[in-house]
Amino acid sequence: MLEIKNLSVDIEGKRILENINLTIKKGETLILFGPNGSGKSTLIKAIMGFKGYSAVKGSIVFKGREINRLATEKRVKMGLGLMYQHPPAIRGVKLEQIADFLDKDKNRTDGLAEKLSLTKHLHRDINMGFSGGEMKRAELFQLILQNPDLLLLDEPESGVDIENISTMGKVLSEYLEKEGKSALIITHTGYILDYIKSQRGCVLLNKQFWCVGSPKEMFDTIREQGYEKCKGCVCHQMS
Ligand SMILES: Nc1ncnc2c1ncn2[C@@H]1O[C@H](COP(=O)(O)OP(=O)(O)OP(=O)(O)O)[C@@H](O)[C@H]1O
Ligand SMILES: [Mg+2]
Repeated sequence: MLEIKNLSVDIEGKRILENINLTIKKGETLILFGPNGSGKSTLIKAIMGFKGYSAVKGSIVFKGREINRLATEKRVKMGLGLMYQHPPAIRGVKLEQIADFLDKDKNRTDGLAEKLSLTKHLHRDINMGFSGGEMKRAELFQLILQNPDLLLLDEPESGVDIENISTMGKVLSEYLEKEGKSALIITHTGYILDYIKSQRGCVLLNKQFWCVGSPKEMFDTIREQGYEKCKGCVCHQMS
């Protein structure tokens, strides 16, 4: 589904990612850990092709096609989908309008809105005045209606209350499993791991990936011993 080879990304002349290698297979979910500022969101933005986050070296291959120079909207049409860490608010565009644009099946959009406790938000401008957790639910709502094949989720559960994490986790895992979709999920809290089946986690540290292993075990190690421990463990740089 996704193959990243020797990718380096600079921001304002500063190297953020150096010679990164990564593969995500069809139906696979990869969990990405890493301290603040290590470049996790940068990686996702580079995959999406956001301005200022382009590859200075290496290649990003999605569904067998190199997408390095492809415009973001074309990547999205190919099946890439993003759930932002900090979603923008969009004045003048209502959540129900974007839902209708993404999926004409009103039963499906209304059903999903109800599941995610967003029925009362449908008539509001996207994310305008939404609480932190409401924004995250609205992001997941739009992402699933978009029906992407590879989901890039940047801290989906941050700021979401425990009950809503459970709802979001179930909605997400149902989508991933039923449809055989792939995902890259960034998490700090690890709560999402209770709902998502994933065999593979990795840590981004000092511009590179370290470790490949069970996400839950990795999360426990990080919590108890810190990120640096991941560099010295049996795990190796990821390929
Ligand atoms: N547009 C930008 N201009 C300047 N520096 C940037 C820009 N975007 C990212 N950076 C810097 O790149 C580094 C990596 O940022 P990034 O957002 O990828 O980190 P992260 O791993 O997602 O962190 P967090 O866990 O806090 O979300 C940080 O030092 C950040 O300040
Ligand atoms: Mg981030």
